[in-house]
Amino acid sequence: MFRKQGKKENEMAQSGFVKVARASEIKPGQIKELKAGSAKVAVANVSGQYYAFSPWCPHQGWPLWSGDLKGELVRCYLHRWQFNVRTGENEAPGGIPVTLPTYPLKVEDGEIWVDITNVKPFRVDSAEQA
Ligand code: FES
Repeated sequence: MFRKQGKKENEMAQSGFVKVARASEIKPGQIKELKAGSAKVAVANVSGQYYAFSPWCPHQGWPLWSGDLKGELVRCYLHRWQFNVRTGENEAPGGIPVTLPTYPLKVEDGEIWVDITNVKPFRVDSAEQA
């Protein structure tokens, strides 16, 4: 059993995933800032589904783990931009098309793993700004 778990962890690590927390540590409706290797990520629990994203608001860097989580939307306290934690899209009414970086996430045997090497990057959609 122990040997099998070590092999699985090695496979996850080789595919870029880093273990960040036990799933039970993040309750539904909660966001936590977590260490992922040398990086930091935020992980949200949306009704038992977990999503990883940049812990910093792409507007002016406010910590998003301190924001409100309503369904898939996290609202930044500073200027009230709202990001979908699954897609990264800014869904604030009238908000500019800026995307919050998100990360692939897996839950294996009650542990949350985040691939910090495969970020969906910050994006400003210039076509929609015209
Ligand atoms: S810093 Fe988050 S909306 Fe401005």
